[in-house]
Amino acid sequence: MKFFIDTADLDQIREAANMGVLDGVTTNPSLMAKVGVSDVKGHYLKICEMVDGDVSAEVISTDYEGIVEEGRELAKIHPNITVKIPMIKEGVKAISTLAAEGIKINCTLIFNPLQALVAAKAGAKYVSPFIGRLDDIGQDGMNLIEEVRVVFDNYGLECQILAASVRHTQHLLNCALVGADVATMPLSVIENMIKHPLTDKGLAKFLADHKKMTESVQ
Ligand code: E4P
Repeated sequence: MKFFIDTADLDQIREAANMGVLDGVTTNPSLMAKVGVSDVKGHYLKICEMVDGDVSAEVISTDYEGIVEEGRELAKIHPNITVKIPMIKEGVKAISTLAAEGIKINCTLIFNPLQALVAAKAGAKYVSPFIGRLDDIGQDGMNLIEEVRVVFDNYGLECQILAASVRHTQHLLNCALVGADVATMPLSVIENMIKHPLTDKGLAKFLADHKKMTESVQ
């Protein structure tokens, strides 16, 4: 399973990259706005230079021509740029065009398995089903990941399931259990995945016993 970080914050990206387990980055216009980016292309380039993996850069246009033009411009920034396109009709047309040109696409804002199927048929490299936002409205986000997995496996589709809107480690574990190819998550989830109180307790005891031993032999 690949781990992506879902942020435009360079310090957080560096922190995750330094752990050596980061496979890519996703951003969106809200995340870019949160860190107050003025030079958008320059910011994407900095991210690409920090992480050896795909970096999703989202288009703002919502019409076919605009999405295609923006997608081509974003793709020129760095070979790791993956153009993120929303699941709308104009977006599907644009995915078909850009994918045929060899541009990597992450189709975002996926909320049902048929949207994922259409994106995969159009040539997207990734689809991003949003788990947390479905949970927020009382639906079962994990069920969506499971259904997309079944649909893609039924037809041997190579499009990767990039589980998005991952809010906590239970989401992450469930994604791994049902076979999501990628999970994108905040730094807090990456850090929480390595924590367990019994690990801390066990380590404290090992260190205390070691100290006792070394003191007793002096
Ligand atoms: C995915 O690529 C999105 O950027 C992201 O996961 C959305 O998460 P949110 O629902 O927590 O905003």
